[in-house]
Amino acid sequence: MVSDRAEVGAGVEDVDLSGRTVFVTGATDGIGRETALALGRLGARVLIHGRSEEKGREVLSQLSAYGADPALFLADFASQDAVRALADEIADHVGRLDVLVNNAGGLFTDGELTEDGVEYTFAVNHLAPFTLTADLYPLLRETEGRVVTVSSEAHRGARIDFDSLRSVDGYSGWRAYGRSKLANVLFVRELAERVDEDGVSANSLHPGVVPGSGFGRNLPDPISAGMHALSGPLAALPGPFVDSVVEGAETSVYLATSPEVEGVSGKYFVNCEEKRPSRAARDRRTQRRLWTVSEELSDTEFA
Ligand SMILES: NC(=O)c1ccc[n+]([C@@H]2O[C@H](COP(=O)([O-])OP(=O)(O)OC[C@H]3O[C@@H](n4cnc5c(N)ncnc54)[C@H](OP(=O)(O)O)[C@@H]3O)[C@@H](O)[C@H]2O)c1
Repeated sequence: MVSDRAEVGAGVEDVDLSGRTVFVTGATDGIGRETALALGRLGARVLIHGRSEEKGREVLSQLSAYGADPALFLADFASQDAVRALADEIADHVGRLDVLVNNAGGLFTDGELTEDGVEYTFAVNHLAPFTLTADLYPLLRETEGRVVTVSSEAHRGARIDFDSLRSVDGYSGWRAYGRSKLANVLFVRELAERVDEDGVSANSLHPGVVPGSGFGRNLPDPISAGMHALSGPLAALPGPFVDSVVEGAETSVYLATSPEVEGVSGKYFVNCEEKRPSRAARDRRTQRRLWTVSEELSDTEFA
């Protein structure tokens, strides 16, 4: 029987997060929303991020029932200025940050460049969490916090052509998505090495196949409608079909809270278990190069 609470599925329902502050990006919908609610039920003060004030307020009102003074922050991740302003706002608002869940992201079928001149999917799914993590790092260091980044099995088969990050020539939404999710895994592996001495941990994950989230909203209509049709009956069946949105939040909640992963860092998880990422995701030269290129593209330097 599948639980309707992600913390139960993740086996962390007895963890007490009272006094802890967590920040979940993309928490106005789908997997991020369920992640935020689970962390709120465990007693954390939950800060949520999204683009829609209306959707954010709905999540806030649910979180308020669990107490702990939740707060909503709005920012479009396609803009590096907006991401930096968000980090400043968070830093002004809280005295501590124990967990950052980099969840916001999606599959975008229209090839476009951001105002910063970067391919949109790469900018939203990778560059934004890169900058946000860098700017919030001083807070995370103080708490020896955890960084949890939602990647995808779609990183398998992907590669990063560093010459095309400022181009949309021959754009394919799936290819750009896979590349951005590969960047998530590489980012986390490099981050884990760099922050190890500070006691901060960083892990990435695949949440499952979750057609009931808003994930398919940018796909052409028949596919998008088909994904939603799959979310009901099939998600209720046991087995390797598709996952409910609650199940989709389980690995994020596990990595954010479980004592089992205390001190575990630089790893990739599926279904709350460590799994080896693709060969490209384990390439240390690409990992280093991605870090340097990300610093350049975002004009960000890690503390
Ligand atoms: N669903 C799946 O099967 C699946 C599988 C593997 C990985 N994932 C990953 O899981 C994460 C969550 O996806 P989901 O399925 O929960 O999707 P979702 O329901 O569409 O939620 C995505 C969240 O990210 C926010 N977001 C999207 N674009 C943004 C932007 N430009 N700036 C700021 N926020 C933005 C959305 O805000 P708005 O509400 O304002 O759009 C929403 O809060 C993503 O990183 C996705 O790649 C999902």
